[in-house]
Amino acid sequence: MSTVYLNGEYLSKDRATISVDDRGFLLSDGIYEVTSAYRGRLFRMDRHKARLKSGLAALRIDYDTVGLEEVHERLLAENDLTDEDVATIYVQITRGVAPRTHHFPPAGTLPTVYACAQVFNRPTQERWEEGYSAITVPDRRWARVDIKSIGLLPNVLAQQAAVDAGAANALVVRDGVALEGSHNNVFAVFDGVVTTHPATHQILHGIGREFVLELARGLGMAVEEWSVLLEDMRGADEIFFTGTTTEVMPTVILDGQPVGDGTVGPVARALYEAFKSGVEAEVAVG
Ligand code: PDD
Repeated sequence: MSTVYLNGEYLSKDRATISVDDRGFLLSDGIYEVTSAYRGRLFRMDRHKARLKSGLAALRIDYDTVGLEEVHERLLAENDLTDEDVATIYVQITRGVAPRTHHFPPAGTLPTVYACAQVFNRPTQERWEEGYSAITVPDRRWARVDIKSIGLLPNVLAQQAAVDAGAANALVVRDGVALEGSHNNVFAVFDGVVTTHPATHQILHGIGREFVLELARGLGMAVEEWSVLLEDMRGADEIFFTGTTTEVMPTVILDGQPVGDGTVGPVARALYEAFKSGVEAEVAVG
């Protein structure tokens, strides 16, 4: 049984319980983060913390993120994950426990803080080389998806539609624009130019997205952030998704049609290699 963190305590997962009055449970009134660790070293924790802090401020949840890094590190250690190639740590902060009201609970209500860690299994290189399929789904989410709210019902329905269709990813589309995946960002390559949606309120500002943009620039690729129409994306040479639990995931079939020549392209391959070596290099220097 894994060890988890709940409100200041480290305990066995089967002993970690929350109140039925928790506002996360009743109202999805909370926020979360997922951070990766490579051989026990956290990747860009400062960026995850910054995103969490701005989300907490936007939701007006009063929680001090100082000490969160220590929680992450202790969970990796307690769960014997420090030697794993890749692990992920999930943290969720809700507005706490109080009788259900739509407005905020009384001042002084403490947030509920939960965190857990698990192994992340990369696909084998052979599987990755086959590429993956994706389907498109309409964007049914709220207007501030840059905030990592725990209210993920539209994302859940989008990803389940992908699973039902035998696809790996769901590409979310609004007003004809291909925005991002249900749980990852999306990139498309046109004549060697690497594109992704600008970091607006309509997408989550992925730490993986940011890293892949840096890697692409570092490899001398042309990079542009603009709103790609789905119609245009269907004609892209390559499409791939990025994220903490996605790394770089090439799409070779979109809505049943081949992307480019229907095989994994050179840009996705170069960026995946750069991603894997880049995270190792970065966590090694700390
Ligand atoms: N999802 N877009 C959405 C809608 C996401 O939920 C995520 C992350 C991303 C990628 O962000 P990052 O590169 O920082 O992981 C983009 C996490 C992993 C999840 O919900 O489990």
